[in-house]
Amino acid sequence: MDKQSTFDDWIELFRAWQKNLGLNQKEIEKYQFETKYDQIPQSEIEFGHYRGERKWEKILHVPDQRIRDALLHLIIYQGDTEFASVEQQRNLLNTAPSDYDFLGLMRVMCEEMRHGWQMSTLLIDHFGQTGKTEAQKMLQRCADQQQRLLGSFNQPVNHWIDFFTYAEFIDRDGKFQLTMLSTSAFAPLARSMPPMLREEYYHLLTGNTGLMRTLKAGRVPVEIIQKYFNKWIPTAYDLFGTDYSSMARWSYVWGVKGRFDERENSQEPDLDNLNEHNRKLYVKEIQTYIEAMNKIRPEGSPELYVPSTCFNRSIGEFAGKSYDPHGNLLTQEEYDLNQDEFLPSEKDLEVLRGIFKNQDWIIQVKSGA
Ligand SMILES: [Fe+2]
Ligand SMILES: [Fe+2]
Repeated sequence: MDKQSTFDDWIELFRAWQKNLGLNQKEIEKYQFETKYDQIPQSEIEFGHYRGERKWEKILHVPDQRIRDALLHLIIYQGDTEFASVEQQRNLLNTAPSDYDFLGLMRVMCEEMRHGWQMSTLLIDHFGQTGKTEAQKMLQRCADQQQRLLGSFNQPVNHWIDFFTYAEFIDRDGKFQLTMLSTSAFAPLARSMPPMLREEYYHLLTGNTGLMRTLKAGRVPVEIIQKYFNKWIPTAYDLFGTDYSSMARWSYVWGVKGRFDERENSQEPDLDNLNEHNRKLYVKEIQTYIEAMNKIRPEGSPELYVPSTCFNRSIGEFAGKSYDPHGNLLTQEEYDLNQDEFLPSEKDLEVLRGIFKNQDWIIQVKSGA
């Protein structure tokens, strides 16, 4: 692997990665990639063993090698998701239902690249040669080849219903992860979060309004939309990690990653169930969005719902078990027989392809509106 001596070298790799993905350079050049830091409301460590001490500005201030390793891990995982999502979404640029949607997706992708840029800056500025190597590796793992570090980011995003569902539920998970890092004891990481969160809100909005516009148009069967919820939401549950996770416990004790509601929650944390705590808040939040969708779904169509946290999990106690999306345990045979009722099938794709031929499947928004 080549050595990189400066951030400029990394930028060259970043540009080569973009080219390799076939991204339209003209569109991308309009976007300014830069590192953004905000002020943070608390200069003292907010939770855990070092609570009340000054936040660490430099890696040299971090009192323990294990904490440095945990920080490195958190930043690598965050950065990996950012570049991965661009790889997942790039093919959709050719099939945007309108100019408005094309520009929206372009903005989402550029902002994800900026988030990856931000995480790479942290790695290169603070973690020496290891950080430089890791920043380079983030541009080498590839979602198309299932090399990304987390499950959601190796799944294909095949069309615009897939994309809107992804933005609504996976970017929403992103919001949760960024919020949990926003209270970090490592000040440069905490300061990176508010600008990233502001941008992330646009991604959630893109997903949410896309789904709402689709439901309002009433052309895509609600049963099929539900199957895309069933495809993505369980992967978002997995992103929160397993119960009794020692990684979550130590990240909390060391003050590097808080609870989603850290600043509002005055209760002592249950250190064995931090991931579960955050996942529950996520379920509660997506519940409200799905309820709003139900209000506008076409009359007579089935209600959309939040799939059970037992369904289709890849990690934790429910991994590999044959629960249906409502949380009923089926035999493996029953599950296999009914799988096409739970998850998108080839037949559903066929139906969607037909529907996508006309632009009336989604309420159109004029560009600049
Ligand atoms: Fe992001
Ligand atoms: Fe995002």
